[in-house]
Amino acid sequence: MPILDSVPFSQACENNKLPILEVLNRHLTDAQTLLEIGGGTGQHAVFFARHFPGLIWQSSDAPSNVEILNLRLASAKITNLPLAISLDVNQEKWNCACCDAVFSANCLHIISESSVVNFFKGTGNLVNEGGILLVYGPFKYRGEFTTESNARFDVWLKTRDHLSGIRDFEWVNELAEDAGYSLIEDNAMPANNQLLAWTKTERAVR
Ligand SMILES: C[S@@+](CC[C@H](N)C(=O)[O-])C[C@H]1O[C@@H](n2cnc3c(N)ncnc32)[C@H](O)[C@@H]1O
Repeated sequence: MPILDSVPFSQACENNKLPILEVLNRHLTDAQTLLEIGGGTGQHAVFFARHFPGLIWQSSDAPSNVEILNLRLASAKITNLPLAISLDVNQEKWNCACCDAVFSANCLHIISESSVVNFFKGTGNLVNEGGILLVYGPFKYRGEFTTESNARFDVWLKTRDHLSGIRDFEWVNELAEDAGYSLIEDNAMPANNQLLAWTKTERAVR
């Protein structure tokens, strides 16, 4: 059986990679190093690494998913796409070097609230000043879902894991600010998602 037949595939990643690329094109042209958090199936990593050959796309995921993620990355054989590292956002020390950019898609509504807090603390310590943090996924605004279908998605998420849930943009933005970031873009994306972009302006509050 070909290796990739045993690697999970996400149709959502196929659908959202081009709209995400349009936004990344505005922000990653000068970046040399990027950390991806929660790389999942590796489809984003393979696609974006090919589009930014001058950028080292360092993917990562929680320990339980790294092995499967690396099956796709290894088979892609892309020079600027090293194997993914094991990174749980809750670990005390993040085992990765400082970088110019962080990208994470569809993770903040999966991980718990305390993990979201750790996500921002960790990225605050990692990104160089002038660097960029890009977060893709669904959000609520002033406590309201942007669409009925996101409200239903939130119920589904919580049935699956009561710690998951669509996060409030205002709360997430506050965490980002505490970590030394300033919001520069809130892009409305297809399928009721957002792509938020922050730039790193100062050292994180620890
Ligand atoms: C819905 S998937 C998103 C995957 C991919 N980024 C995408 O857009 O399809 C959520 C990802 O978060 C990862 N994850 C869950 N808990 C995590 C944690 N504590 N630290 C780091 N990643 C975590 C999962 O392993 C999974 O890859």
